[in-house]
Amino acid sequence: MGVFLPLFQVLILLTARSNSHRSSKPRSASTKGPPPQKSPSGSPRGRQRYAPGSSKTPQRSNAKRSENSQHDNTQDVLPEIPPLTSPDGPFPTLFTCRHTYEDTLMEEISRHDLPSVHTTSPCPGLVYVEGLLDDDSSAAILTDPVYALQSLPNCRILECQNSIKGLARAIAETPAFCDLLAASPRGSLASIHAIVPGMCKGQKDPIWQRRSHLVADAVLEIWKKQFPAARKQPSSEETNQETKLPVLLLQILLLSPDVAGASLAACNNSQQPSTGQQRQQHGWWPNPHYPVGMALVDITTQKMPSSAYRKLLEALACMGTQPSSGDTVVDLGASPGGWTAALLLLTAADIVAVDRSPLDPKLMKNNRVTFIQGDAFCFEPTTTTATWMVSDIIAYPERIVELVEQWCGLVHNMVVTMKFQGTAPSWDELDRALQVAESKGYMARAKHFFNNKNEVTLMLQQQQHKVDKRTTLSSPAADASADTSTGSGIPSFYKPAFERYLNTVKD
Ligand SMILES: C[S@@+](CC[C@H](N)C(=O)[O-])C[C@H]1O[C@@H](n2cnc3c(N)ncnc32)[C@H](O)[C@@H]1O
Repeated sequence: MGVFLPLFQVLILLTARSNSHRSSKPRSASTKGPPPQKSPSGSPRGRQRYAPGSSKTPQRSNAKRSENSQHDNTQDVLPEIPPLTSPDGPFPTLFTCRHTYEDTLMEEISRHDLPSVHTTSPCPGLVYVEGLLDDDSSAAILTDPVYALQSLPNCRILECQNSIKGLARAIAETPAFCDLLAASPRGSLASIHAIVPGMCKGQKDPIWQRRSHLVADAVLEIWKKQFPAARKQPSSEETNQETKLPVLLLQILLLSPDVAGASLAACNNSQQPSTGQQRQQHGWWPNPHYPVGMALVDITTQKMPSSAYRKLLEALACMGTQPSSGDTVVDLGASPGGWTAALLLLTAADIVAVDRSPLDPKLMKNNRVTFIQGDAFCFEPTTTTATWMVSDIIAYPERIVELVEQWCGLVHNMVVTMKFQGTAPSWDELDRALQVAESKGYMARAKHFFNNKNEVTLMLQQQQHKVDKRTTLSSPAADASADTSTGSGIPSFYKPAFERYLNTVKD
C-alpha cells in the first residue's frame, strides 16, 4: 500500500498539469523520407501519423547539441506516432538514446548495411527501426548498439481511444506476450517500465507519466490473475533450491494518451558467443534496471569537483559491479577530480590519481588518494597493485587503443572514455579498442551514456573476474549521506527511476 501513496500525490500533481494547454509540436523525422502523413480516418485528436523514413544514409542533424543540460524541461515531447502494428507483424524495434544523438545511432545501425532496415526518429531520444529480419545480421543490430541506451524489441504499437483500461487490455491480450508468460516460471516478470517520451530527453517531470503508470498497473492486474510468471517470485525455502529465473521486462511507452508501444522481452546477462558480426556481450540487455536505460546518478549531497563523475557512475551501473574494499583504482586524467571524488564517496577503494594538473585541494589532502603528477601515458602500471583502471584522458582515439592494450592483463576492470574529434565517432578505433580487449580475455562493451558528450565509454571486464550479479554502490560514507527515506540503503541519487516496479511484483 505504501507505494501507492506517493503515486496518488503524483497523480494529483499531474492531473493539474495535464489540464494545461500543450503548445509544442511534434519533431519531424530527422531522416530522409516523405513528410508525416495524416491518419487516413482523420484522428479526432488531430494526431500526426508517422511516416517511415528511408534512412540508409541518415542526415546529420544541424541542431545544436545541448551538451551542458542533463535535464531539459523546456518543452513537452510529443512524438510522431508510428503506424499501429497488425497482430501478424512486422514489429519494429525502438531504441532510446541520448537526445541529439539520434542521427549517430541511425548511422551506427546503417553501418550494418542491411537493405531491408529503415530507421527514423519519432522524437528526441528515440529511434524506430523497421525491417529487421529473423537472421544473424539483424540480430547484430539488436545486440546492444553503442549509441542505444535501451531497446524495446518487437514492439507492438497499439491504440485504444480514451480508455486506460482498454489500452491495458490491448497490451495484456497480445498473443505473443501471453504465450511467453504462459511458458515462463512463476516470478519471471521481473520489471515493468512505464515510459513516456520526455524521459528520453532526461525530463524530470514529463507529460503522460501518471497515465503510463496507470496503464502499467492495469496490465499487471490482468496478468497477475492469469499467469504465475507475473506473480511474486517463490522464496528459496519454497523451491528449496537456487533457481535461475528468466528476467522478463515489460516496457510500455506512451506515444500519445491513446497509443502505446509495448515490448515484452527476456533480458540477457550472459556471455553471448561471438557469431559473425555479433560482439560478445556482457551486462544486461535490454536493461531491466533503468527505464529508458538511464541510471539516475546525480550526487546532491556534496559539491563535486566536476560533473564528469556522472559518466563513471553510469558505467558502473551498467557493468553491475564496482571497486570495493581492498581494491586500488588508478584514475588516469583525474583532474579536477570528479571521478576520484565519486569513488571516495561511493566505494571503499584507494585511488591513485594521475594527471598533469593537481586535483581539487580537498582531494589532494585525502589519505585514500595518492596523486602522481605527470603524463598518464608514461605512468608505469606495474608500479601499483591496482585492480581497476579508469581513464578520462583527453587524447586521440588511437592513443586510447594503445592505452587499453597497455593495461590489459594488469587490472581486472577498466572504464575508459574514448573522445572523438568533430561530431563523428571514430568507428574504426572504437572497434579496434574492443577487439584488442576481447583478444586479451576481456568482455568488452561500449556505451554512449546520457552523460557522455562526443565520446563513448568502454567497459572492460576480465572474464574470470566478471561479477555476475548486480551490485549497488554503497559504502559507510554513502550510506551516511543517503536519503534514508528510501529505506533501501541505496543512496537516493543512485536509485533506479520508478524503482517501485523492480522486484515488487506481488501476488
Ligand atoms: C576531462 S578531464 C578529466 C575530468 C575528470 N575525470 C574529473 O572527473 O574531474 C581530462 C583530464 O585529462 C588530463 N590529461 C590529458 N592528457 C593527459 C596526459 N597525457 N597525462 C595526464 N593527464 C592528461 C587533463 O589534464 C585533464 O585534467
